[in-house]
This record gives sequence, structure tokens and C-alpha cells, in this order.
Amino acid sequence: MSRYVVTGGAGFIGSTLVRSLLAEGAGRVTVIDNLLTGKEENLAEVRPSVDLIKADIRDYDAVAQAMRGAAVVFHLAAIPSVPRSISDPVPSHTVNIDGTFNVFRAAAESGARRVVYAASSSAYGDTEMLPKVETMLPRPKSPYAAQKLMGEYYASVFHSCYGLETVSLRFFNVYGPRQDPSSPYSGVLSVFMTALLGRRAPTIFGDGEQSRDFTYVEDVAQLCLKASRAGGVAGQVYNAGNGNRYTLNETWRQLQEIEGVRIDPVYGPPRAGDVRDSQADTTAAVRDLGHAPRFSFEEGLRRTLEWYRSRRT
Ligand code: UD1
Repeated sequence: MSRYVVTGGAGFIGSTLVRSLLAEGAGRVTVIDNLLTGKEENLAEVRPSVDLIKADIRDYDAVAQAMRGAAVVFHLAAIPSVPRSISDPVPSHTVNIDGTFNVFRAAAESGARRVVYAASSSAYGDTEMLPKVETMLPRPKSPYAAQKLMGEYYASVFHSCYGLETVSLRFFNVYGPRQDPSSPYSGVLSVFMTALLGRRAPTIFGDGEQSRDFTYVEDVAQLCLKASRAGGVAGQVYNAGNGNRYTLNETWRQLQEIEGVRIDPVYGPPRAGDVRDSQADTTAAVRDLGHAPRFSFEEGLRRTLEWYRSRRT
């Protein structure tokens, strides 16, 4: 078994992280994925270097077996999506809470040194001030946000009670190649880009003035690697964002400019559980983890758009 385990490693963010680990010389990486939202093809050219264990993190025995001999675990497996957690709360609860507990428990019992946990910016809810700082009181507005916050609490408790080194990274609206645009719960940029390339109008939920700190997937993968190595950070929570924010209206405008087209969006009712504004304070992540995002929003949009274009048949 390899020293690195990535849960959810066949997913959009996980498969990027697997590539980053291999590029940095990991040799082999073990992936645990039930292929519910992940896809084996996401691992395409790196597949020979991956031990893919098709298992659900709700299955403790499978998780424990996969972690034998692991030194570092990246826990990214989850049922993402705020609206999905509202319309179908049981699977997201059991995967995101029970499954996460299984991952920490198996990591502690197998003697792994560290677990980097994919937490979520949704934990903040609507704060009075921007940017959002880790010291602010969390105010989850959806089951998904509450579940991801519970994972942080477990991460902290597994450190204090069992000595497992855990680091929670609050991901801020990650986007990039391999994000699946085909589900009703897909991330907004994957939906916007496929609409743009198909010359269709996107639907914007609400007035489009809500804002997000969109973070390019490779920057998040790099931060995961840094969090797996940094000293003096066990038990802590860090923002994994860019420090910027763009409204949906601005974002759609920018995409139209890049593509040289004009397509007016359709506006629909606001979505339940939605946070209004999201922007990370990156001070702590820069200071303690060496966070250094490389991709400007425009660069990330262009790269992602090219990827979706290359996938069109
Ligand atoms: C939330 C978290 C994010 C997490 C993600 C997991 C916040 C601020 N962010 O993302 O960190 O990774 O859950 O799923 O809580 N929208 C449209 N049209 C569409 C699709 C979406 O207007 O077709 C709108 C949504 O209503 C929302 C925004 O776009 O206002 C972003 O939505 P989405 O991409 O689903 O992510 P969040 O729910 O913000």
C-alpha cells in the first residue's frame, strides 16, 4: 500500500490532488472512491500509478483496510452541494458525517501521521464582515454546511484525544478542469461554461449579485500538499480560498467577454440555503501553510473553458 491515501480521489478535486502528489514524486497513491460522483476516467493517464479501491467511506472495514500503512490521508470524499443536502439530506448526512468519522477513526487506528480534511467555506454562513476569518463564529445555513463543520470538530477532537495530526481546509468554491457540469447540483462555473460553449443562457438563482471566492483547483491541490507537511498546524482550521470575490453577474460578463459573445442570463428564484457573499481571509493560510495561489480568476477561467471546449464532441 502507498503512503498516501486520497478519499474521493476519483472526483474533480481529488483527481487533481492525485496528479499533484504523483508529480511531486509520490510513486503510488491509494484512492478510495465509490464512484458515485467520481469517475475512473478522471484518473485516465495516471491510472497505472493509482491503487483504486472502489468502496464507500460508510464501510468502515473497507476504509480501515485501505489505510493500512498510510502515512498521510487526504479526506475529500463527500456528497457535496448545498441544495442536494436540503432535498435529499440522509445520504449527505451519512456520508459527510458518519463516513468522515470512519476516515478519522481508521487513520488513527492505522497509525497514520496526518489527515488533511476538505472542510467548506459554507460553515461560515452569512457573516457581518468580509473577508471571512477562521476566528469568526460559524453559522451554517444548510445541512451540508453543518455536516462539513461537524467534520472539522471531529478533526480537532481526533487530534486532541488521539494525537492524530489533522488539518482542516475550508475550500472556497473550487472550479477547474474535470468538474462535472451534468448534475442539477453542479458547481456554478461548470454550468456557466458549458452553457457558454453551447451558446445557451444560464439560469442565475436570485439577482446575481451574490459573490464567491472562486478558487482554481490546482491552487487547492497545492495547498493540500502544503498542509500535509507544515509544522505546528495540527488540529487547526484554515481558509483555502483566493482572497477575492466576484458576483455571478460579473462572472457571466467576464465569460462572455472571453468568448466574444452576448447571451443574457435568465433569472430564477433564489436558492434555499444560499450564502450571500463569500471571500476568504488568507492571512493564516499564507503565514502557517505557505499558501500562494498562482492562478488569477481570468487565467483559471480561460484554462477551464479550454478544457470544456476540448471535451465537446
Ligand atoms: C458551497 C460552498 C463551497 C462548497 C460547495 C460544495 C459557500 C459560499 N460555498 O458552494 O465552498 O465547495 O458548496 O457544493 O457556501 N447558481 C446559479 N445558477 C446555477 C448554479 C448555481 O445561479 O446554475 C448560484 C447558486 O445559487 C449560488 C452560486 O451560484 O448562489 C454558487 O453555487 P454553487 O456553485 O452550487 O456553490 P455554493 O453553494 O456557493
